[in-house]
Amino acid sequence: MSDGHPVPFTGVELPLEGRREGKVRISYGLPEGRRLFVTTDRLSVFDRVVAADPYKGQVLNQLSRWWFEHTADIVANHVVDTPDPNVLVAHDVTPLPVEVVVRAHITGVTDTSLWRRYEEGARTIDGHRLPEGLRKNARLPHPIVTPTTKAHDGGHDEPLSLTDVVERGLVDPATWSEVVDAALAVFERGQSLGARAGLLLADTKYEFGTTESGEIVLIDELHTPDSSRWWVTATYEDRMWAGDEPESLDKEVVRRAFVDAGYRGHGEPPVLPDEVWRATAARYVVAFERLTGTHFEHGTYPVADRIHANLREAGLL
Ligand SMILES: Nc1ncnc2c1ncn2[C@@H]1O[C@H](COP(=O)(O)OP(=O)(O)OP(=O)(O)O)[C@@H](O)[C@H]1O
Ligand SMILES: [Mg+2]
Repeated sequence: MSDGHPVPFTGVELPLEGRREGKVRISYGLPEGRRLFVTTDRLSVFDRVVAADPYKGQVLNQLSRWWFEHTADIVANHVVDTPDPNVLVAHDVTPLPVEVVVRAHITGVTDTSLWRRYEEGARTIDGHRLPEGLRKNARLPHPIVTPTTKAHDGGHDEPLSLTDVVERGLVDPATWSEVVDAALAVFERGQSLGARAGLLLADTKYEFGTTESGEIVLIDELHTPDSSRWWVTATYEDRMWAGDEPESLDKEVVRRAFVDAGYRGHGEPPVLPDEVWRATAARYVVAFERLTGTHFEHGTYPVADRIHANLREAGLL
């Protein structure tokens, strides 16, 4: 199908061992300490899958690969190969039990978001002292790291301070200090390459793992519209001072549409107009094209058939 609105790719069954099902990705074990990740078109907000949008999986996989290439001089990453537009072969590592969130701006709509807590009067958040008088979406004096636990089985992530991570024995002090430094350096790279594309990296989430030899590697996805908030620089200031939300090339528009419909992640999600999904799919492609400076080559659908063919050709099936 090439009408631009094919049936989204929601899943695949591969004849491989060790299947794991995340909200967005399906993975399988491979020989020699590798793991194969299939990125579907599923879209999750408030920690649950609410829809699927064509080409979203391909954007995430290919944009992540681009960012891993453009940060490999800062920290090692898990990428081995991308045998299909929606597939990544990676080093299978042990993920650290924390998500490393870095924020340059104060924003969010959920109860645990930085902005909602600040609005309710908190001035020390996750161990960071914040200045008075910040507006929603304002830039922070410098990027801050706000880790969370990694929730399992549909739970919500719990905020932690930098010291909680070590005090709770989640990560050893030497590893944690290396991870925080790497996260801030990769974030700075995200900001500077984003600036070239006219985009602001408002915040993002990193995952790190450790190899058997103890090396720290950046894993999962990188600076995608799923893991990050990307804002259009040109309109950011004016919109903030006018009290409008930034032009956002990510899934914030979906979050906002839900919140406007009175939904913040508890119970059955309300049905949103088709236009929300179409606009979101388009935004993901725009984010890819602006950040990489290359044209997005729409892959063929159905994606599952193509994946089988490409993996056979690569000798992985
Ligand atoms: N190189 C790797 N080795 C082992 N596990 C990894 C590696 N890279 C990523 N992972 C894990 O694989 C899973 C990816 O699946 P997915 O992105 O669907 O995660 P999720 O957290 O369930 O969903 P969401 O991203 O919506 O929060 C995550 O649990 C991530 O920690
Ligand atoms: Mg994930």
